[in-house]
Amino acid sequence: MSKNKDIGCNRMLTIGEVSKRSGIAISAIHFYESKGLIRSSRNQGNQRRFSSIVLRYIAIIKAAQSTGIQLKDIHKIFNQFPPNNKLTSEQWLMFSSQLQHILDQRIKKLIRMRDNLGSCIGCGCLSLTDCPLHNPNDILGKTGAGARILEDD
Ligand code: FES
Repeated sequence: MSKNKDIGCNRMLTIGEVSKRSGIAISAIHFYESKGLIRSSRNQGNQRRFSSIVLRYIAIIKAAQSTGIQLKDIHKIFNQFPPNNKLTSEQWLMFSSQLQHILDQRIKKLIRMRDNLGSCIGCGCLSLTDCPLHNPNDILGKTGAGARILEDD
């Protein structure tokens, strides 16, 4: 057997191999599976086996989570594609553009937070000297709860 066959996309992996290669705990793999983010099949001995494509899904989950993207948003994207299959280039393009859209939203929010934390954030406390300028009489409170300047999309 050639070495390349061992790392081919159709190879089925044990949960231990997935854990070792992806760098996440077995309990995290179970958790992702219970949330429907990844899927396994069972072999004849009723043991879990994962398609090697699961490594890419886990890498994306880890990277997305590290940027604060919620699992439910990742799930929504993953769910549009057939589980345990190699995706086509078009599918990866669709996949990545949806993830990029979520990242763009997060980046916008992070920039707003970075730029506004030192001034009035529209939370209703009216504690800063510039609050009367940005949120006179807590007028922003009428648009909803929370820090209106930070939380508006
Ligand atoms: S910082 Fe709270 S209302 Fe301005």
